[in-house]
Amino acid sequence: MRRKKDWELRETHATPEAVFRTRRRFVSALGLGAVGGALGAAGLQQVTQARILPTKAFTDFRVNPEFVDVGRALTREDKVFRFNNFYEFSLDKRAPIRLCRNFKLDPWKLQIDGLVKKPITLDLDDIRKMGLEQRVYRFRCVEAWAMTLPWMGVPLSSLLALAEPLAEARFISMTSFFDPSIAPRQNSSASPWPYQEGLTIAEAMNPLTFAAVGLYGKMLQPQNGAPFRIVTPWKYGFKGPKSVVKIRLLRSQPSTFWNSLQGQEYGFYGNVNPHQPHPRWSQKREALLGEWGRRVATEEYNGYGRWVADMYSGNEY
Ligand code: MTE
Repeated sequence: MRRKKDWELRETHATPEAVFRTRRRFVSALGLGAVGGALGAAGLQQVTQARILPTKAFTDFRVNPEFVDVGRALTREDKVFRFNNFYEFSLDKRAPIRLCRNFKLDPWKLQIDGLVKKPITLDLDDIRKMGLEQRVYRFRCVEAWAMTLPWMGVPLSSLLALAEPLAEARFISMTSFFDPSIAPRQNSSASPWPYQEGLTIAEAMNPLTFAAVGLYGKMLQPQNGAPFRIVTPWKYGFKGPKSVVKIRLLRSQPSTFWNSLQGQEYGFYGNVNPHQPHPRWSQKREALLGEWGRRVATEEYNGYGRWVADMYSGNEY
């Protein structure tokens, strides 16, 4: 029997269902769901051996001393490069490294517009010239797996400041690339492409919110969201869009990819909260990518409450 390729998955309005099944299988594999999964407990560890593309090393960055030790070892680099959620390419976490091989956003531009005094367009060099820093952050996926990553980039607030936000701006939307010629799943209208996420303006300006262009001292791998990605370590990973081309400052809350697909399951805020189970699994514990069988307690705001808790009343979902 011919095995269907990833991009041949039937999509109709079953996309949420397909994603649901992938997530369910995955969470089951971690032993966090109610039933045993087809992927098996080895799923998190046995990633593809596909070749990792060499990306350019950054030599010109400073290590931010405030974000060096998060009480966990860094996740093994090859695991981070070979196990990805990049739904524009595939629902299979082992496929993006292969399918992103020809993914070039070059020349790439980031546009910042909307409620700003000076709409601007930046490229990677403009961001590098701002002075890159390295920050080690915890990363927690809504599917109950976690990593520890050394990102390189600049605070998002310093990018937004260049555009001079107007006082009426209350939210930002962040939009990922759209190119169905290289991202097979963008050929289907069953999902609301391009991938879009949103933050309140306070969240966007929070000192933790990071605009990343690198990982492990090198430019981002395509499958990790090259050339530019947003990182909000106190939120579930889906709140950090990859390969962002536009940030727009807005008066009202933007619609977002996961929230519009499955609003009951993926709230606008997506703050890490062990006391609020996902409708289909507990969020109390997380499995560490690359650390066989190791599961640890999940912390409120992923351990970043001291930076972010004052932005919330505690009921945000
Ligand atoms: N951004 C885009 N454009 N497309 C995606 O599918 N997946 C999100 C987030 N950003 C996603 C995205 C989810 S669900 C997670 S967990 C992380 O990216 C995964 O990042 P990683 O593959 O680098 O681990």
